[in-house]
Parts: sequence; structure tokens; C-alpha cells
Amino acid sequence: MRLYRATDYNDMSRKAANILSAQVILKPNSVLGLATGSTPLGIYRQLVEWYKKGDIDFSEVTTVNLDEYAGLPKDKTQSYHYYMKHNFWDHVNISPEKTYIPDGTADDAKAECLAYDRLIAGIGGIDMQLLGIGNNGHIGFNEPGTSFNTDTHLVKLTETTIEINRRFFDREEDMPRSAFTMGIRSIMQSKRILLVASGAQKAEILNNAFLGPVTPSVPASVLQLHNDVTLVGDAEALSLI
Ligand code: PGA
Repeated sequence: MRLYRATDYNDMSRKAANILSAQVILKPNSVLGLATGSTPLGIYRQLVEWYKKGDIDFSEVTTVNLDEYAGLPKDKTQSYHYYMKHNFWDHVNISPEKTYIPDGTADDAKAECLAYDRLIAGIGGIDMQLLGIGNNGHIGFNEPGTSFNTDTHLVKLTETTIEINRRFFDREEDMPRSAFTMGIRSIMQSKRILLVASGAQKAEILNNAFLGPVTPSVPASVLQLHNDVTLVGDAEALSLI
């Protein structure tokens, strides 16, 4: 694993954006696996800024997102589809037909998951997967206990995740209880992985994930078995590493 220590959130965002843009500069038709949540927001902001300056070109890039809430139409402001459009896709020259995310409203969940895995395989797999990490060690929505052999699947969200994410919904009952997510195997098949973390609340889980045993009870610990992982964290998040 390669470790970059950033001073603070902005420095973390810039360092991670640098790594993603190097990927795109070296391979303009890269397949980028993208993530949502609060941590990557600064990365997207930075990439958009560099795009506007003419420093990076996304015209040949394809993106596949990690996850999407089940039952939430894509135009809902809390959907990850909306998040991606609002924070990234609409501000760079990426072709809309090359941006993929599971369809949260798919009636046939199994078919949707299978189609998503086939799609990823069909575009040649993911060159670089951006990941955040949940306070409970989840990657994507692969919650503690998820088998390392999972492909894209529908998951029931844990109470911890619901608790943390319901701040984005007006009423608690609006918060979806399940989500589509790439599986651990889907994530591990990415050629390179870039995990970003910021803030003191991530320190303990990062320590468990990267220095503790490899176990499904800490999903991110599987990354110890991947041969090209880069971790970019700020001082608070890396305080125990
Ligand atoms: P966060 O979420 O970036 O909002 O902390 C990370 C995650 O749950 O993967």
C-alpha cells in the first residue's frame, strides 16, 4: 500500500485529485470507479477546477459508480445519480452515455446487478476505483459481515449507516433501507484503488482496516490483499497509522 499523508481536508482532496488526473492523463480512456459521500466532494471540486483551466480532459473517460439507494428515482436530490451530476458530471466534458450507476428503481434487482457486473466487465474493468470508508469499515455499501466473494448486489443497510446518512433526508422514513452496491469482489477486481479519508472519526477504522486482521467484519480490511492500493488521508484520519 502507498500512503500519502495530507495536512487537512483540502490537501487530501488535492493529492487525491492529482492521482486521479495522472491516471486520466496517462490513459485518456480510463474507466474510473467513482464514489459518493462527503469525503470525495473536494476531489470533484478540484477536478472540475482543473478541467475548467484546460488541464484535464474527460472526453474519453468512462465512469462507473459504486452504489445507489434502492427505490430512489435518479432525479431525487438524495440519489447518488443526482449527487454525481450535480458535483461532477455536469461540470466536465464527460459523455453522459459513458457514466454508469446502478438504477435504484430497477424492478428486478437480480437482473440489474448482473447487468452492472456485465457492463463493468464489458468495458474492460475499472482502471482506478475511488473509495471512501464508512465509520464501520464499509466500502461501497458492503457492510460488516459481507462475504469477500460478492459481486454487485442489493444490501439491507445497517442501523449505523442509516443513522449516519439520514441527515440528508428531510424525514427519517424517507431514508432508504437498502441499496445496490458493487460487491467486494467487484471492487477488488479494479486494477488500482484510491481510498480517501478525512477527520478524526475515521482514525480508528483506518487503523483496524489497514493494520488489523483481514476479516469480513471490517470490509475495508480486504484491501490489504490488493496489490495496488493508495491511501490518502489527512492528519486526523491517519493519527493512529
Ligand atoms: P463519507 O462516507 O465520505 O460521507 O464519510 C464514506 C462512506 O460511507 O463510504
